[in-house]
Amino acid sequence: MLVPLYRHVLRPLFFRMDPERAHELAMRALAACSGSPALRGLLKAIAGRSDAPALAREVFGVRFPNPVGLAAGFDKNGVALRAWEALGFGFVEAGTITARAQPGNDRPRLFRFPEQRALVNRLGFNNRGADALAAHFSALRTAGQWPSIPVGINIGKSKITPLDQAVEDYLHSFRRLHAYADYVVVNVSSPNTPGLRQLQGREELSALLGALQAANRGLERPRPLLVKIAPDLADGQIADVAALADEHALAGIVATNTTIDHSALPVDRRGETGGLSGAPLRARATAVVRLLASQTRLPIIAVGGVDDAESAREKFDAGASLVQLYTGFVYGGPTVVREIVSALGRVA
Ligand SMILES: Cc1cc2nc3c(=O)[nH]c(=O)nc-3n(C[C@H](O)[C@H](O)[C@H](O)COP(=O)(O)O)c2cc1C
Repeated sequence: MLVPLYRHVLRPLFFRMDPERAHELAMRALAACSGSPALRGLLKAIAGRSDAPALAREVFGVRFPNPVGLAAGFDKNGVALRAWEALGFGFVEAGTITARAQPGNDRPRLFRFPEQRALVNRLGFNNRGADALAAHFSALRTAGQWPSIPVGINIGKSKITPLDQAVEDYLHSFRRLHAYADYVVVNVSSPNTPGLRQLQGREELSALLGALQAANRGLERPRPLLVKIAPDLADGQIADVAALADEHALAGIVATNTTIDHSALPVDRRGETGGLSGAPLRARATAVVRLLASQTRLPIIAVGGVDDAESAREKFDAGASLVQLYTGFVYGGPTVVREIVSALGRVA
């Protein structure tokens, strides 16, 4: 009954709106649910039970109640953390958060492709900035509003910071935010911040990861540090990232971000600049996970085109320890997590 509610009633309404307006509306509703026990109860009833004790696991020293998480970018400012838990996610990645607050690119900057079950976005890390978000997270903790599922924090470079000062920019966010993170992701793979993906180059990435791990090691409780990579890297570059991740004793790798390859879209609809996500990304993201798993024993968080149990299983079979979704949640709605988790749980 509730699956048709989203797919046949709410989704058509949302899809008649501008995509970013719909996202803002959904986030406002989810933020309200996050703060209210009664509304969280309602969300849980809508989503359905997704307890699957057999799926719980420990990855890089963190206990995950199930391996299906919300990917970065959906809840950039961490306003609905407890709502994600109520929807059955096993973990949530907040961010990307940058050192400076920033508005992101001009609108429109988010586009739907329902026939391809895809999105294209060029949001450009719109977020409230590391200082404001550290205060927000601290207030949530003090108020007893922190979720019980693990929270990852994804950090990126502020747009106005020149590339040669990127390390300081990431360090600022890391220092402000590590205390609230069960794991920290270094995002060097968004196509929407000019020059960012150059930080995936061997030398640049080594300098960045070295500096962040040095800061991390100085903490009383160092955090699992991961790097998130693009699906557009050549196989040799992916092998380089795996080697660097090992060298710098990272906790894992998140693969992948959105792709700049729009060839899955009809020719006349390839005009929008930005990163493509969803079903057309699935095969390449899985191939990147498989390649990484052949190069390193570090845990991999797989993301890209997960929208049902089969696509999730494909990622685990390729070597992932955890999966995340973004676009699959937009198309599948609030019951999709339960559907994936319960189907995975039946065979676990
Ligand atoms: C609208 C939108 C915004 C995103 N913002 C971020 C972001 O801020 N940081 C990040 O690391 N990834 C971001 N992503 C990428 C997702 O986390 C994910 O890696 C990608 O969409 C592939 O997964 P999917 O096919 O399940 O959507 C964003 C994706 C979308 C669609």
